[in-house]
Amino acid sequence: MHEFDRWAEVRAALADPALVPELPAGDGGPAGASVTWLRATVARFCSGEPHRRRRALVEAELARLEPASLRQAVAAAPAGDVRKRVVRALAEALGMPEPGAVAEAVIVVAGAYFGGGDDAADEAVARLVARLAPDPEDEAALEAAANRIGLLVQACDATTALVEAAADSGDVPLARVLREDPPVRAMRRVASRATRIAGRQITEGDVVLLDLATANRSHAVPLTFGAPPRVCPGRAHALALADGLIQRPLTAFARLHHQAAPLLLPNAWDHASAAALAAQGFPAIGTTSLGVAAAAGLPDGVGATVEATMALARRLGQGSFLFTVDAEGGFSDNPAEVADLARRLHEAGASGINLEDGRADGTLAPAELHAAKISAIKAAVPALFVNARTDTYWLGRQEEATAERLAVYEQAGADGVFVPGLSDLDKIAALTAALVVPLNILYTPDGPTLDDLTVLGVRRVSVGSLLYRRALAAAVATAADLRAGRPVDCTGLSYSDVQELAAPDGASWTSV
Ligand code: HEM
Repeated sequence: MHEFDRWAEVRAALADPALVPELPAGDGGPAGASVTWLRATVARFCSGEPHRRRRALVEAELARLEPASLRQAVAAAPAGDVRKRVVRALAEALGMPEPGAVAEAVIVVAGAYFGGGDDAADEAVARLVARLAPDPEDEAALEAAANRIGLLVQACDATTALVEAAADSGDVPLARVLREDPPVRAMRRVASRATRIAGRQITEGDVVLLDLATANRSHAVPLTFGAPPRVCPGRAHALALADGLIQRPLTAFARLHHQAAPLLLPNAWDHASAAALAAQGFPAIGTTSLGVAAAAGLPDGVGATVEATMALARRLGQGSFLFTVDAEGGFSDNPAEVADLARRLHEAGASGINLEDGRADGTLAPAELHAAKISAIKAAVPALFVNARTDTYWLGRQEEATAERLAVYEQAGADGVFVPGLSDLDKIAALTAALVVPLNILYTPDGPTLDDLTVLGVRRVSVGSLLYRRALAAAVATAADLRAGRPVDCTGLSYSDVQELAAPDGASWTSV
């Protein structure tokens, strides 16, 4: 047997069409009545055309399930055996009759799925098939039923293992649990023809063991959910189920990142702009470091605005709306100092902080340093939502390292990650498919629409300095029109409207 445990080797083996899943031995038996029949009929153990067809069946089933609803359903279900709760929630969402009985049968099948079958597991398969495909002559219905059962079996033990590992790990970020303690620790393949992996010759019929748990240690982006072309189709569902079962407490601001539509976060630069946006019903407000710096007559991105940033946070903290502060790179390369700033922002009332890895000289801070700042903040102020920003696209540097940087940041404890400047739909989709935490994208007028970003799974959309630049441009245009004798656009908030933003409790002023 060949064993691979380096990340690049395992990745190469998973992508090699010559290496196919090993079908555990066993006699098939009559259709619909044994674990060996089930294994021979599901996507998980086949390759080529049957795999494409069966995987399409599974994907169509999963497309009917909204991960957020699964999270809610599993969280609301009575406490009890995790396996049963996972499978029951899925079976119910798939509209299967008697989901409780389905779950009990699936748990029995799961125990025999990767090994030799047993009588109890064969009987459980027969019971499940009788429910899902009552006509034993209908081959297409039998194949569909097998793959619905296979999906539940795949979900059962892996999701339960994740929930148990997360419970044992205390406050360790889920992204790190997934990397360090992967629920599927190893997979087997068999060579359908001769091939070479990492310089090693593999002969037809050779068995190959892929050690995911060890491979994950040599790379930031884990292989926990496999890799194309067989990457786990239930990843989003697994994460939602695990979330619902673990029930780590979320702040009101964090909850805004876990809704069906992304959080649209407008960025303010002073108290009035923040209060005006909050009055329009935006559930949370961000700040823009460019706006704050420019308003104070300071350059952005060079660590010059710590006082202006703190002063604005203190002022916003007087309001009754949620806000998050753009704090450049934390105004220091000392993680302890950044954590102290974060603590002061939180004390001022901030619900979140945005922390970037881009530097004033156009380079990127080392990912390890940025991760150390994130960990230090989360250790000092666990309730503060850390949005870890990478400037790989913003600065046009190391764009190919984006996924790896984000993986490092979420494993360090970031609650969300942000990639300003990224607008390519495929690249955004690849990131949302690989991340555990919510992805934030910067809205740009020539980039994807809000609808596009919603479909891609983006969970937060901010507008950066756009509103500040628009407000400045409107002020300048109004003055220029006046000077040139052109008609002046006087639409805007009234004097008292603006007064009301500053003193909503009714203090009255009469000067202009
Ligand atoms: C933390 C939980 C989970 C982990 C770590 C996990 C991991 C994996 C991995 C590594 C594979 C690839 C196997 C291979 O390449 O041979 C896989 C396949 C699969 N998973 Fe998951 N899985 C999880 C949960 C789920 C859930 C919840 C579902 C369904 C709702 C699911 C459905 C499937 C299916 C149907 C396959 C077979 C896909 C194929 O062979 O094309 N998994 N999973």
